[in-house]
Amino acid sequence: MEGEERNEMLVTPWEVRGKVDYERLIKEFGTQPITPTLLERIRRYTGELHIQLRRGIFFSHRDLDVVLDLYDKGVKFVLYTGRGPSGPVHIGHLIPWIFTRYLQEKFNTRLYFQMTDDEKFLVDDKLSLEDTRRFAYENALDLIALGFDPEKTFIIFDVKDIDVLYDIALEVAKRITYSTARATFGFQESTNIGWIFWPALQAAPCFIHAKLTGENVPALIPAAIDQDPYWRVTRDVATKIGYYKPAQIHCRFLPGLGPGGKMSASMPETSIFTTDPPNIVKRKIWNAFTGGRATVEEQRKLGGNPMMCTIFQYYVYLFEEDDAKLAERERRCKNGELLCGECKSDLAERVNRFLEEHRKKREKARDMLDKFYIKR
Ligand code: TRP
Repeated sequence: MEGEERNEMLVTPWEVRGKVDYERLIKEFGTQPITPTLLERIRRYTGELHIQLRRGIFFSHRDLDVVLDLYDKGVKFVLYTGRGPSGPVHIGHLIPWIFTRYLQEKFNTRLYFQMTDDEKFLVDDKLSLEDTRRFAYENALDLIALGFDPEKTFIIFDVKDIDVLYDIALEVAKRITYSTARATFGFQESTNIGWIFWPALQAAPCFIHAKLTGENVPALIPAAIDQDPYWRVTRDVATKIGYYKPAQIHCRFLPGLGPGGKMSASMPETSIFTTDPPNIVKRKIWNAFTGGRATVEEQRKLGGNPMMCTIFQYYVYLFEEDDAKLAERERRCKNGELLCGECKSDLAERVNRFLEEHRKKREKARDMLDKFYIKR
């Protein structure tokens, strides 16, 4: 059984399936774990560690130590992350963005954010360019709502802004062979040729800062680990074209509300979208898969299992910042004091409070959007 489960895991930029074994991903992708020593180095710059670092949600990296070595010597870095606008944003998408905003604030650095309306058009048969462009703008509102600094945040809408990417993408594309791309991304005979070129466009923002400002500094990319194949090919060409290799810091996926699997827009009943009204949020949370027992009596007697509970994970990722209170919740669950109903309604209330605030900021963002356009 265990063997079967292991084989089922699939993590690619286009599909994430099965129970994700993060230790195994570190080995297979050849990344580095985030060690206590590295955390201590970060803490020296940021003060108290962000919850996503304290709780191991960001768990793996490439060259974060190198970026910090350079930083110690006075070489700054820029942040780069992005979004494939294939639908509305759910709270799983917000996790790395919240962390990115924190890094922007603590390190006082620029963020380049890529909205890949071109990518999603190419890879998804059902989406038109008009769809992906519309989602790109709608999704940008969710990003801006998180409080990024308009002076230091540059959103690249690929189709509109292709001129800032294209020359860099060509330099990259010329140095990646078809056989490398096929091995890395699993292209088939039937794959359309737009998709085959496309990875060069995701590489381009890694180097855009040098082009825009003349300042050659490394990019640090906070993102979920499924994007790693892009960075593997990008890192191979970086030094050949005169830039630093982009560094990464990888996060886990926020689980969906069902049994197993990440939160995914293709499964709307187990995903919470930022635009979900309060009663829908309540219903989705109410139907969630928990670590609870079959009956109240059993639960009182035997306690629940927070480790396999999706609801508990939401407290861990975002909705209980206080470590002591989180530990207390865990203890009360395990010894049967806290029942699932109470834990779910607490969570629904917190999520709704968060989303209500988020939506207010999201509406304000409409008037601010043009401040975030990338300038040439
Ligand atoms: N390919 C990503 C997606 O489908 C979008 C993306 C572009 C991205 N550039 C990025 C994600 C940089 C993380 C970091 O979601």
